[in-house]
Amino acid sequence: RWADVPFNPPDSIFGLLEAFHKDPSPNKINLGIGAYRTDSSQPYVLPSVRKAEEKLRKKNLNKEYSFIAGSTEFCQLSFDFALGEDNVISKEGLNATVQTISGTGALSLMALFLKRFYPGEKTIYLPKHTWNNHITVFSFFNLPLDYYRYYDEPARKLDYQGLIEDLSNIPDASMVLFHPCAHNPTGMDPDQDQWVALSRLAKEKDLFVLFDMAYQGFATGDADVDAFAVRQFASEGVPFALSQSWSKNMGLYGERTGALTILGDSKDDVRRILSQLKGKIRAIYSNPPIHGARIVTEILTDPELKQQWLGEMKGMIDRMISVRKVLRESLLKYGSVHDWGHIVKQKGMFCFTGMDAKQVERMTREFKIYMGKDGRISIAGVTTKNVDYIARAMHEVTK
Ligand code: LMR
Repeated sequence: RWADVPFNPPDSIFGLLEAFHKDPSPNKINLGIGAYRTDSSQPYVLPSVRKAEEKLRKKNLNKEYSFIAGSTEFCQLSFDFALGEDNVISKEGLNATVQTISGTGALSLMALFLKRFYPGEKTIYLPKHTWNNHITVFSFFNLPLDYYRYYDEPARKLDYQGLIEDLSNIPDASMVLFHPCAHNPTGMDPDQDQWVALSRLAKEKDLFVLFDMAYQGFATGDADVDAFAVRQFASEGVPFALSQSWSKNMGLYGERTGALTILGDSKDDVRRILSQLKGKIRAIYSNPPIHGARIVTEILTDPELKQQWLGEMKGMIDRMISVRKVLRESLLKYGSVHDWGHIVKQKGMFCFTGMDAKQVERMTREFKIYMGKDGRISIAGVTTKNVDYIARAMHEVTK
């Protein structure tokens, strides 16, 4: 019966996680998946999240179904976290926001909606490079993909010129995906002036923007600064869809907590868009899980707890920034002839090392360091204890 089912190759990120767990080596290090680790290489449940759970336990809540679109309060809190309190879009009720199975769920739902309803050409323009799962998700829904230049490989920096050129040349009213902060995997973001120029270009060309904001707060440690791009495009009146994830900034990975917003031009647009999103959710998973959304709501509606959380988030970012420096210094200490300046310039959870597939293969085979085939390492997995070993391995394979 199933003899004709072809084998589907393992996912480039989660496949690594499985391979890592199977490896019996005591020295193995996982720099594959983007999941924060403490300096003792332990997963981190934020104390503010524990406190929110404690408060929830005391409330003795039931386990009834959520609405199809999830918690209305959570949806609005999430959107306002991105757009800023008192934003005009919320005031005018122009955001169709639903709770999603984190960022990937938001993107899938976005893809389904756009595939069915985007008027005109349905090609999605992605940055070259981008998160591998963008390609998986949009291809799964048969949306044609194309790429705009984003990263200057030899110079290891943003290819701003190429980016502007390519986006100027795509057809008007196209769909373009941006990572508003902490670009995955390159760690290179446009600066604020560049975002302003991009928002004007988008406006001029009537582009529809797909924002995938999985790392708000993780680029600079300040969630408002990281939301600059989204808020800038909003102020220019550029229409967009927004995917949000609470996996990284609140550490809610396995709770699968996120949101999808599609902006409407009128309240009636919003009513119809929401009805379609709900129709799709009901068909796929009926309604979202409740626990993660409750945690987010508890934290965002308690000013003191919110401050605590923002401090803890900043703590994660500060640790990653400081370990970037140590990694570079250690590489230079070992006498590496490469500059490695990009390690400290890049932002967020990842470092796009520039190592090629052969070098990556040696990192894993000889040193038991698991990392992306594209040369991406999760900086969140580097600690003061393992940084020396990692630097030595990187130096060995890049000599
Ligand atoms: C990553 O890029 O490693 C994370 O976003 C986890 C994932 O879902 O791929």
